[in-house]
Formats: sequence, C-alpha cells, structure tokens
Amino acid sequence: MHKVVLDMDPGIDDALALILALKSSEVQVLGITTVAGNAPVEVTSANARRVLEYLNVESIPVAMGAANPLNHPLEDALSYHGPDGLGNCGLAMPLTPVHAAKAWDFLARLVLDAPHEVTLVATGPLTNVACAFERYPELPGLLAGLVLMGGAYGLTPYGKGNRTPFAEFNIWQDPEAAHTVVKSGMDILAVGLDVTMDPAACLNSQHLEQIKTKQTQAAHVAARLVEFGIEHRGCCRMHDPLALAALLDASLLDFISAKVEVVTGNDWDRGATRILPPDSSRSVQVASAVDGPRFVRLFLSCILEE
Ligand code: RIB
Ligand code: CA
Repeated sequence: MHKVVLDMDPGIDDALALILALKSSEVQVLGITTVAGNAPVEVTSANARRVLEYLNVESIPVAMGAANPLNHPLEDALSYHGPDGLGNCGLAMPLTPVHAAKAWDFLARLVLDAPHEVTLVATGPLTNVACAFERYPELPGLLAGLVLMGGAYGLTPYGKGNRTPFAEFNIWQDPEAAHTVVKSGMDILAVGLDVTMDPAACLNSQHLEQIKTKQTQAAHVAARLVEFGIEHRGCCRMHDPLALAALLDASLLDFISAKVEVVTGNDWDRGATRILPPDSSRSVQVASAVDGPRFVRLFLSCILEE
C-alpha cells in the first residue's frame, strides 16, 4: 500500500488519475495539493473537490498551492480541457472549503509526520513541489519517492513536445520549478510523453462503451471525462493516470536511468528535457516503454469494479 499525496492541476486526465487512485487498493490518498496549470489554481482546486464530493469522499483534504509559475505568467490549457477544466462533465461546484494550509506547508507536515512513508505523485507543473523543497530543504530526503508526469525525452517516436515542439506542457509551464525538482537528488520516476502519447495507452470509443456499461458514480464521471476527450480529439490521452499506474504496477513501464537537464528561461527551447551523459549527480528513472494494452486493462478494471 503506497501512502500518496497527489499534486495536480485537474484537468481531465488529472481527474481520471484521481478516480484511479481512489478506486485502487494499492494506494491510500492522504491528501491532494492543487496547482495552476491546466486552469487557474482556484479552478483546479474546485475541480479536485468536485470529483471528491461527487464520489462521496469526505476524508481527503485539498490544499491550494501556487497561482502562477515561479518566473512566468500562467498560460492555461482550458482550450484543451473545456471551460470548466473538467470537460464540462456537469459535476456540482464544491461545498467543502480548501484546507487552511498552503500546499507546500500541507505536504511538508504530512511528510515530516511520516518520514520515508509518503510518495508524491505530481501530475501538473512542479511549482508546488519546488516551493516545498525550497521552504523545507529536508523534504527530498524524507519523501519515499516522487513520480511525476512530465517531459518529452526523445526515447520513442512519441517523445516530442506538446506545448512546443520541444517541451511538454507541465515542464514548459514552470521550467525553473522542474529544474529545482530534478536537481534535488531524490528518487524520481519521470513518466513523459514518450510513453503517454503511445496510442496503445489511450482510451478509445470502445473503451468508453465499456465504461458506460457500469452504473457507478466513478464510472459515470469517468465516462463524461473520457467522452470529452474522444469527442474533441478522437481519443482520451491518459498522461496522468499512466504516471500513477507506474506506482500501481511498475512492470507496466520500462525505465532508463539518466541525467536529465531542464531548459529554463523563455527561449525557443524553454522547458525542453534533455538526457545527458551520466555524471556524479543523481539519475532520474525515465519511462522508455509502456505496455499500453495492459495499462488500459488495469485502468478499466479499477473503474469497472464495484
Ligand atoms: O502534457 C500533459 C500534462 O499537462 C498532463 O498532466 C495534463 O493534465 C497537463 O497538466
Ligand atoms: Ca495534469
């Protein structure tokens, strides 16, 4: 059982990752921290609570984090995720307030209270994580691990950028934060577009029909989210659920150990993630292959169970 904190920017695929986490017996979600990315942080925070409340989950706090990247203005992706950031899935707006603590303080408290027990799963820009590491320098050494959805490493034909031809959205949004996180030296599993853009790891209309057969709250909201992706793009990309799945079943992915450089600033190569020759610095485990059909089966089996 992994005790996890989900740092996310819901977002359709973040919400699907949250549903997967809630339905999986492999993880216990201790809390959610929200960050600006796909949508402004007030929206991503509301969206996390919308999903929790719809699924009648009352025990998981949501702590709000950064409203902007460290050094750049926010450029959201509402054109991709729909005006409400959740594919217009129709969930009621939340009634519960966000947690009193800021995301980085909330995360630090959980980790300091349970050293080496908590794994952080980051599926948005890494602004909150960088803020936490800067305020609490001991944190990287006390986390059990970090799984992040981010980067495009050129390891497969899909390993190209999606925000620019060179950079993946989460890293591009806050490259300085990503640089801080990568150089922290902690154990990192990086799940990038190299594997998440593999068509075999995406949901199609046949998968949607399977989800629609299930009359549960989780299946109902998952169907609405997946349907938006399929209607607008022909398939539903599963970036964030696949990153979480690395924790549920690491055998779904192959990884290479590599030194990763993040290009900071705002030039043409902002947010590019480059693999460099190994040196004395700590390597990142970068996903290099995925068993897409087996990942899809895992996701569907979790969503379709009672
Ligand atoms: O590039 C894909 C990533 O950016 C996903 O995490 C998606 O939710 C957006 O945050
Ligand atoms: Ca995300």
